[in-house]
Amino acid sequence: MSLELKNVKKAYREPGGRQLPILNIANFQMASGEQVVLVGSSGGGKTTLLNIIAGITTADEGDVLIGGTNVARLSEAARDRFRAERIGYVFQTFNLLPAFTALENVLLGMSFGGQKADKSRATDLLKQVGLSHRLHHKPAQMSVGEQQRTSVARALVNKPRLLLADEPTANVDSANQQTILDLLRKSCRDSGVSLLLVTHAPEVASQFDRVEKLADFNRPQG
Ligand SMILES: Nc1ncnc2c1ncn2[C@@H]1O[C@H](COP(=O)(O)OP(=O)(O)O)[C@@H](O)[C@H]1O
Ligand SMILES: [Mg+2]
Repeated sequence: MSLELKNVKKAYREPGGRQLPILNIANFQMASGEQVVLVGSSGGGKTTLLNIIAGITTADEGDVLIGGTNVARLSEAARDRFRAERIGYVFQTFNLLPAFTALENVLLGMSFGGQKADKSRATDLLKQVGLSHRLHHKPAQMSVGEQQRTSVARALVNKPRLLLADEPTANVDSANQQTILDLLRKSCRDSGVSLLLVTHAPEVASQFDRVEKLADFNRPQG
């Protein structure tokens, strides 16, 4: 699905009570099926931006059009449904449910999206991220990198139309970094899914045709 941000603004309230502007994006666009890397300094607002696109955080102002649907104008329930059905999200902090195994976490991603649990698809995705030997481990029983790879499988299980990935290779070795990147890119390419990926790794960013610096289109003070 295409993505368009128009006049999106977001400020957080500082502990002292003052408003701290984080995002002010006049315009940002991605075509359907496009793959874009987003780079920017720590604390620059990348995660906030992905959360706004996913409809987890609401912008103070502006429009977020995903495949023509303005998610900024949907009710919370409709936004949750839209996200579950259309958006895959590899969270920077993984957000796995601690009481469930890797396989169950991936299967839950499916049921939130209203799809019938497909154990063989979930198992196959976990195999593709190199976790066939960790299907029945819970997050606390896995390394950080294994948790990250579980969250990659969960983001793909629902066949999303837009995939958001927040530093998805930050916690894995270079072999797994390339495996994850290839899986995300190939899954998106094969089914025309748009991919917006945040990374600090130059060797990841350099593989993409389009690399955007957040600071180039974000003017929080302006
Ligand atoms: N819920 C929040 N309340 C107040 N400030 C926040 C909140 N979330 C993030 N921030 C601040 O907003 C800025 C941007 O955060 P973030 O989007 O996580 O940046 P990035 O992902 O680029 O490192 C940071 O300075 C952070 O401290
Ligand atoms: Mg972040």
